[in-house]
Amino acid sequence: QQTITVGLLGLGTVGSGVIEILRDHQEQIQHKTGCAVTIKSALVSDLSKPRDLHGEAIQLTDRYEDITRDADIDVIVEVMGGIDHTLPILLEAIENKKHIVTANKDLIAQHGAALYEASQQHQTDLYYEASVAGGIPIIRSIIDGLASDRITKMMGIVNGTTNYIMTKMAQDGVDFDTVLKEAQDLGFAEADPTADVDGLDAARKMAILSILGFSMPFQLDDVEVKGIRGVTQDDIRYAEELGYRIKLIGVAEHDEAGVAVSVEPCLLPVQHPLSSVNDEFNAVYVYGEAVGETMFYGPGAGKLPTATAVVSDLIAVVKNIRLGTTGTDQVQPQFPNQLKDKKE
Ligand code: NDP
Ligand code: HSE
Repeated sequence: QQTITVGLLGLGTVGSGVIEILRDHQEQIQHKTGCAVTIKSALVSDLSKPRDLHGEAIQLTDRYEDITRDADIDVIVEVMGGIDHTLPILLEAIENKKHIVTANKDLIAQHGAALYEASQQHQTDLYYEASVAGGIPIIRSIIDGLASDRITKMMGIVNGTTNYIMTKMAQDGVDFDTVLKEAQDLGFAEADPTADVDGLDAARKMAILSILGFSMPFQLDDVEVKGIRGVTQDDIRYAEELGYRIKLIGVAEHDEAGVAVSVEPCLLPVQHPLSSVNDEFNAVYVYGEAVGETMFYGPGAGKLPTATAVVSDLIAVVKNIRLGTTGTDQVQPQFPNQLKDKKE
């Protein structure tokens, strides 16, 4: 039986979930792919931190080259986050013919086109399902499930941390700082939670959905963004009294005039389905010309839901390796390559 060897970049919340799922679901993964999948090594920034490796013999390193240049490694799973430091590491890995699975929406929203072009050039795979809405397979649904339709609009809750904060502030009257700390402790928030709180994380996810769903040139800078920092307990209480909930909502629309994307706190009637999406859960409506309205719901952040998306991508890569179809744009989510990373 063929063994596919993985290198992990990052061993925090999501990385440890990936180890756990690969260990616990190994038999099923082997059945589905015909291959054993094993993690050889993992990059961390602090080698002295105590780690639970779930009994797996994984070599730890603080030198990314130990992974990107390791000839044994077939697939790199990037779950460390960051943009400026991480982009060149992944580009080097792709040059070295490594397939990439990443959960990094910051990087995909800003440099998805460059990574996609590099992966096409070197005939490698690039998968990023976990970059939007954690455990919900929204990217596959847009790219494959709704491939026959023309998507006109996407709308919903795509940030777990802010939804957790708004839920706890409304239900338990907990103050903002206390509940943000809870979201961090639960592993939902970004390393720098201002990206969550100020709406940038949701903006990046809406940008990725728009690029993939509409196949139109679109820049992250063009998203209108407003976070939840200004929402007070009083706002939440008055809204409830009037029959509304406040949620951070992303909207992306496409018509002849172009693409418009926004992220902002919105008042929703309590009967609206999005009003019942609580805690770290996410929900996304996708409207297609032919299909009409569809809704995708599930855990939008956290260790195992996010790792599920990552390992499902890994399974897709392993299948491609077995079938000899890696790097072909029929099998990986195409990132429209007319897009450029930054405004000229
Ligand atoms: P964590 O902060 O929990 O883990 C990050 C890991 O990467 C740590 O092991 C850290 O090392 C390592 N790391 C970070 N920077 C470096 C560096 N410069 N060099 C070497 N190692 C580094 O993050 P998460 O697991 O929460 O998130 C990882 C990625 O997944 C991010 O891109 C995030 O946006 C994305 N994501 C996260 C979700 C979640 O629910 N948490 C959901 C969806 C996506 P050390 O352990 O030594 O500190
Ligand atoms: N910080 C992100 C969130 C993680 O809270 O939604 C999932 O992308």
